[in-house]
Amino acid sequence: MISVFGSNFGQEEIEAASKTISAQWVGIGKQVQAFEEKFAAFIESDNFLLVDSGSNALFMAVKLLDLPPASEIILPSFTWVACAQAVLMAGHRPVFCDVERGTQNVSAATIKPHITPKTGAIMVVHYAGKPVDISPILALGIPVIEDAAHAVAARHLGKACGTLGDVGIYSFDSVKNLAMGEGGGITCKNASLLQKARQWRYCGIGKSGFQQATHTKTPHRWWEYTITDPFIKMLPTDLEASIGLVQLDKLAANQAKRKQIWQQYQKAFAPINWIICPEETDTEAHGYFSYFIQVPERDQLAHYLLENKIYTTLRYHPLHLNKVYASSTPLPNCEHLNETGLNIPLHPRLTAEEVAYVIEKIINFRA
Ligand SMILES: Cc1ncc(COP(=O)(O)O)c(C=O)c1O
Repeated sequence: MISVFGSNFGQEEIEAASKTISAQWVGIGKQVQAFEEKFAAFIESDNFLLVDSGSNALFMAVKLLDLPPASEIILPSFTWVACAQAVLMAGHRPVFCDVERGTQNVSAATIKPHITPKTGAIMVVHYAGKPVDISPILALGIPVIEDAAHAVAARHLGKACGTLGDVGIYSFDSVKNLAMGEGGGITCKNASLLQKARQWRYCGIGKSGFQQATHTKTPHRWWEYTITDPFIKMLPTDLEASIGLVQLDKLAANQAKRKQIWQQYQKAFAPINWIICPEETDTEAHGYFSYFIQVPERDQLAHYLLENKIYTTLRYHPLHLNKVYASSTPLPNCEHLNETGLNIPLHPRLTAEEVAYVIEKIINFRA
């Protein structure tokens, strides 16, 4: 089966993980610190913290904004469930907005109708790696949480996606462009917010007893600690960070492979009048996380591809259609994408033959 998403691990990751295991310390430590420093340099930010998942980074991001209870947070319905769950878990209300059909991203125009006096923040998602047109959204003067789970290597306005808003998050789960198994990152414009996040990440305990005993001149009762705030545990591990460090070294090569496949699809599908291809512009560096097409007979195409051993999917079933969120606002573009959208295979381990096979099968569907 040719899979829609995939990782690209090699001997280097195996050796890095094995080295960490041999060092008899797989929990948070030097590898996490090294990853944080290297990734901070990569996104050109002084403020970056590794946590245990992108989902938890989202929860952390919402909490960091310290909004009044039951604030409204506007976010796309066409996104992963963790975005809305983070809002609810932090005691706020998700308000779903539409996305543009062409970009699958929110815009100032889709956000504006939902702004009320209770709006505390806007959460934007760079869908599939395409940077959101953020300037008009920042101009609304509302705090922005930037979900760059798909956009780890994407850039917009000369800056790394994730660093454009007030708080940004990344995902390093097993199928992301930079994969470490499970892992997430958080970056903040304001350094004191990141300091707070660092404090919270270990159940609200700032320092470990071991650190205090071994890194202070006159250690005293290092086993006692001050809990600053109630918080859950979101610690990353050295095991995952050591894999992440190798993946960061390989990111440029993996991105080049993703881009090449992406462009092959664009070229092959452009003349096909029943396929709507993703939009791409010269003013941005796309993250190339996923390739998304819009087609009239989507369900039939997905089934036909599955019969031909090509696994595709739809990211995402719009959240406002999910009963748990009790939303009654129609969002026509999200609903349209729900009927026509399909993510087709894009990952750096695809072979040239597999890509050619995917193209051939899709084009032949209606031939
Ligand atoms: C847009 C988006 N945000 C957040 C997440 C959550 O990331 P993680 O899987 O690391 O928890 C995902 C995961 O797929 C995602 O696609």
